[in-house]
Amino acid sequence: MMTMIDHDEPAASARGALFDFDLSPNGRTGAERRPRMRSRATGLAPLDAGCAPLLTSWLNDSDVYFPMGDVDPRPFTVEDGKRYVESHLKDTWAVVAEGPENVWTPVGYAGMFVRSRHRVGIFRIAIGNPAARGQGHGYRATRLMLKWAFDELDLHCVHLSVSAANTRAVALYKKVGFVECGRYRESRWEDGVRHDEIVMEVLRGSVRP
Ligand SMILES: CC(C)(COP(=O)(O)OP(=O)(O)OC[C@H]1O[C@@H](n2cnc3c(N)ncnc32)[C@H](O)[C@@H]1OP(=O)(O)O)[C@@H](O)C(=O)NCCC(=O)NCCS
Repeated sequence: MMTMIDHDEPAASARGALFDFDLSPNGRTGAERRPRMRSRATGLAPLDAGCAPLLTSWLNDSDVYFPMGDVDPRPFTVEDGKRYVESHLKDTWAVVAEGPENVWTPVGYAGMFVRSRHRVGIFRIAIGNPAARGQGHGYRATRLMLKWAFDELDLHCVHLSVSAANTRAVALYKKVGFVECGRYRESRWEDGVRHDEIVMEVLRGSVRP
């Protein structure tokens, strides 16, 4: 039987690639990214400076910045985007989608902040391109990130927090195997409304097949 998740390259190169890419202004543009890990038409590719304009547009979109809580709602400039990329080079991947003729383009990003002494990761994801949502990219990218976290980073568990209003994301996380382990009550302030923040976890070995 064919496995759902396959890696294009051995684990060591996948991890090494995160630390070895072109940050020069003449580096790759936002156009095409080859995935280092893939599952069907969804992949994870190293983030690089060329992703900054796309990230900037996503981080200015309330559909992304409210649920992510990465940045305060404000105009986010391309310079901010570059700084964001530079500070997340080691923990964040571009989520890429396969189009016609095997061309892979970035549709979002996914990150894993690692608390290394505890072997714990804190996960986040956004499919920034609205047209790419609802096609399974979020699900497959989350599974790829968990595979990376447990098989390559050797983490013991992965945590996240999500607004209770974000029913789409909560459904995705449960589908993958995350379980709710607590709530910060009324701790999300989104568009003038307070929502609970749900804390979720998945332990090594508990990802749903
Ligand atoms: C939340 C998000 C990551 C989901 O990714 P996606 O690619 O749109 O979702 P998928 O197509 O992979 O769907 C996976 C599961 O999510 C849930 N889901 C997806 N779209 C949904 C919708 N419109 N309503 C309810 N559940 C939905 C379902 O459980 C779905 O599984 P199913 O198709 O078997 O029912 C994506 O929509 C996104 O990035 N949104 C904006 C930013 C954000 O909310 N990030 C999460 C912050 S915690």
